[in-house]
Amino acid sequence: MHLTKKAIQERIKEIDVVIELLDARLPGSSANPMLAALTGAKPALKVLNKQDLADPARTALWLAHYNSLPGTRAIGLDASMSTPAKALIEACHALAPSRGSMVKPMRVLICGIPNVGKSTLINTLTGKRATKTGDEAGVTKLEQRIVLADGFYLWDTPGMLWPRIIVAKSGYNLAASGAIGRNAFEEEEVALELLDYLIKHYPSLLEARYKVEVPPGITDEQLLEAIGRKRGAVLTKGRINLQKAAEIVIYEFRAATLGRVTLETPEEFAEWLAVGKKLDAERQVKKDKIETNRLIKFKKIPRPAKPQEI
Ligand code: G4P
Repeated sequence: MHLTKKAIQERIKEIDVVIELLDARLPGSSANPMLAALTGAKPALKVLNKQDLADPARTALWLAHYNSLPGTRAIGLDASMSTPAKALIEACHALAPSRGSMVKPMRVLICGIPNVGKSTLINTLTGKRATKTGDEAGVTKLEQRIVLADGFYLWDTPGMLWPRIIVAKSGYNLAASGAIGRNAFEEEEVALELLDYLIKHYPSLLEARYKVEVPPGITDEQLLEAIGRKRGAVLTKGRINLQKAAEIVIYEFRAATLGRVTLETPEEFAEWLAVGKKLDAERQVKKDKIETNRLIKFKKIPRPAKPQEI
């Protein structure tokens, strides 16, 4: 992460457009808030990747949202597109029209959190066969420059840009998508959060896939049990194997056998973010207070004087 941050800081001065790959099923949650701080006011291209798995109506909402922001454009992509370079080149030209010649080449940086499909896209762009790249701890990828066209260079950042989770719901959405590893979250908890959202927004997909009734007011726990029963995830004495049921729900969301689903709209995400930022600021105040008290205790800083009595 530190390496990635350093690489971006070093490269950014000579970059014309920053591409951020987002997961089209969770565009807000799969963004890295640190990136905006690192790249400042550089023109930004948001690529809603894996759009084949996302709800097309909601992808349209997200594209309109990003396209309404200053200095920002957005396009949808997925791995089935054989010539993604064309769409990327066009969008970058629209963002930086004076660049793209041999004299003034277009210099583009591409970033994204793990599992968003960056290696797959880069492999398609470079015409290489898919290979697993360095997403394991300690595997360092070198910065690579890819020539997309004459006068059009794409820099791939080394290492990984991890999401910083200040929105609780984002943590669950990232876990459901597979961007956060199995050790970070209990599968049952992730599946329950996922079902809670799907009950409200995609009940007919649940009914069609699991052949269960999803009446108004059904809870996520009741639905997980019903799915487990339907799929034969049953333990002794008729108890439901909730772990197995959770794995089925998560797997089928990821593979989109459940249907094309998007777990957040721009409006919802803006609300979650506002709450998350408030809680984050409160946490920071608490942390600062603890640190100040620690420094006072160890006499690193003087104790503040008591207010004078009048
Ligand atoms: P990363 O470099 O950003 O970490 O992601 P990577 O390209 O390794 O892709 C992560 C997973 O997402 C891979 O699946 C890959 O096949 C899948 N993927 C990438 N782009 C798309 C897309 O546009 N649509 C869909 N549906 N899937 C996509 P995997 O199961 O981890 O590996 P594998 O089954 O491909 O071996």
